[in-house]
Amino acid sequence: MAEATPPLTQPHAATPPLTPMSLATLLGRIDHEWTSRKKIFDLPTARFWKPDPEIDLGFEFLGRPCATPIGPAAGPHSQLAQNIVLSWLGGSRLFELKTVQIIDDLEIARPCIDMQTIGYNIEWSQELTVPQSLTEYVKASMLLEMLREWEPIAELVGTDPGAHVFDMSVGYDLAGISDEKVATFISGMRDASAEIEKLRPEIAGAAGGAFAHLADLEFNPHISGTLTLSTFHGCPPEEIESITKHLIDVHDLDVIVKLNPTLLGYETVAGIVNDELGYTDVPVKEQAFADDLHFERGIELIGELNEYAKERGKKFGIKLTNTLVVDNQKGFMPDETMYLSGPPLHVLAMTLLDTLSTALPGQLDVPGHDGEIMVSFSAGITKDNLCDALATGVNPATVCSDLLKPGGYGRLAPMLRNLTTELRDSGHTNLTSWRAARQTSAAAAGHATTAAEHVRVIRGEGIEPYHLTGNEKLPRVVDNELEMFGCVACNFCVTVCPNDAFTNIKSLPGVDAMNGRQQYLVFSELCNDCGNCLTFCPEEGDPAVIKPRLYTDPELFAAREGQGYLLVDGRIVDHRGPDPSVPLIQQLLDSQAGNPLAAALSADGAADGEA
Ligand SMILES: Cc1cc2nc3c(=O)[nH]c(=O)nc-3n(C[C@H](O)[C@H](O)[C@H](O)COP(=O)(O)O)c2cc1C
Repeated sequence: MAEATPPLTQPHAATPPLTPMSLATLLGRIDHEWTSRKKIFDLPTARFWKPDPEIDLGFEFLGRPCATPIGPAAGPHSQLAQNIVLSWLGGSRLFELKTVQIIDDLEIARPCIDMQTIGYNIEWSQELTVPQSLTEYVKASMLLEMLREWEPIAELVGTDPGAHVFDMSVGYDLAGISDEKVATFISGMRDASAEIEKLRPEIAGAAGGAFAHLADLEFNPHISGTLTLSTFHGCPPEEIESITKHLIDVHDLDVIVKLNPTLLGYETVAGIVNDELGYTDVPVKEQAFADDLHFERGIELIGELNEYAKERGKKFGIKLTNTLVVDNQKGFMPDETMYLSGPPLHVLAMTLLDTLSTALPGQLDVPGHDGEIMVSFSAGITKDNLCDALATGVNPATVCSDLLKPGGYGRLAPMLRNLTTELRDSGHTNLTSWRAARQTSAAAAGHATTAAEHVRVIRGEGIEPYHLTGNEKLPRVVDNELEMFGCVACNFCVTVCPNDAFTNIKSLPGVDAMNGRQQYLVFSELCNDCGNCLTFCPEEGDPAVIKPRLYTDPELFAAREGQGYLLVDGRIVDHRGPDPSVPLIQQLLDSQAGNPLAAALSADGAADGEA
């Protein structure tokens, strides 16, 4: 493992870590990026997903049509509106939204994401206030509806991009979930008419009227009718039971319970992670197993909650899995405990699927059992294992860690292209018949189910991508100190940032101070110092701290420390940083076709800072 990198030096003072951009600003960015560089939120068109009309990748998510079986897992990719748009452009159709919980002024320590090898994080909750989360999700839903109708990209996303589903996620105890604050959030997601009418007036004037014809669109006020309960670590069984019943009874929701890998028991988990997969230095936290739901009770609970939902005309599902609690032995992130995700979690979650489906014969909705309890999945999904994972019957396969690797949201469309090819090459036009054929061939090879077959492979001859030896390689480094202008221009800071807080602009020709082809700038309002760009930047230094930090909110600019440039109406009006950099940054912004980028970030339209 690499040397621990020192923590970031950008204190937040008392300011919130994220300030969402207004709907008008986001529309301004979409239009400007599209007209000037054929990108949306820095995603190039080659990474947009266009469905193949002959291959149906759709499935039913708790009874709702959903056009593809992938999407972001609750996490940094499903928190801000532009993140959700990026996921949709990449082909996601199921969005497990970032978990909302009552304590919404949490201070998450930094850095909070470490994707250097496998995946670790300490970011366990939303960083927006609860009302802000509602606005973001409604904004995202409106943006998707507008993009579906936006002629310039029609050819690239297809005439029918297919249905999508927003799945809420809440945590972490009954008291918090039944509080008025969270209850108002849930009812606002069920009927967002008021929120939509608050946002609608921003559309007509945005981007010089480029979206004015969509200002009267009949936006769907029903943003979500399903919810995944993030039980997190240490949530007792009685609490899981009472929260699920509360969500069904009070909010009339279809509910999924997200389970933890601890359900497998300490010996099995430590045996897989430390012995089989070779992560001898990952200390699995034994105490977490005592506090979490135990297997026998878990089996009973799944059956009971399914019956409870069914009797009330609702649907119930499970999700495998949340992260694994381990001791923080790396020291890159500050907390004592951290949460493991990525390749080793895939082996744990698939083993759990196999074990649970055997213990609940005929109950899970997976091939070989064909029961009614839907199984959603998130654990180490990549382009290479997506097909085998979906063949096990999980619906959908959501992704988090893989999208935090270089390429970011651009990694989604290749996953779907692979899946389309797999179906076509095996002579199928939909997931159901393809899965049935996979089950038949698994059975012919002596496996009870496709899940059992997949587990046999990933814990046997196909172990390498999950084993320590397949995950030891560290991100590339070059022996060069990162500077404000010029760098190797790998673009990693842009693609690994889940918030699209970085943007790049072509260098100004003939300006000596600006070596390198591309210059990188940070939208400070969107940067929460998660540390992911620091991990992947090949040069020495933290891009989020060193690259020019643009502010549009004077209060935020005043409250933060470190270099920064305050923009008002596209002009730099104040700065902390070397004076000679000011004209250079201004020229860079002005080089953007009459400066619409900076104008889009002007004070009146930019930061939607209301708490
Ligand atoms: C940075 C980060 C933040 C996350 N935040 C949440 C969260 O708010 N709620 C939740 O239920 N799971 C959260 N997760 C867990 C993911 O939703 C997912 O279940 C897990 O990471 C396994 O998927 P993966 O291996 O593809 O990352 C988070 C994971 C990461 C890496």
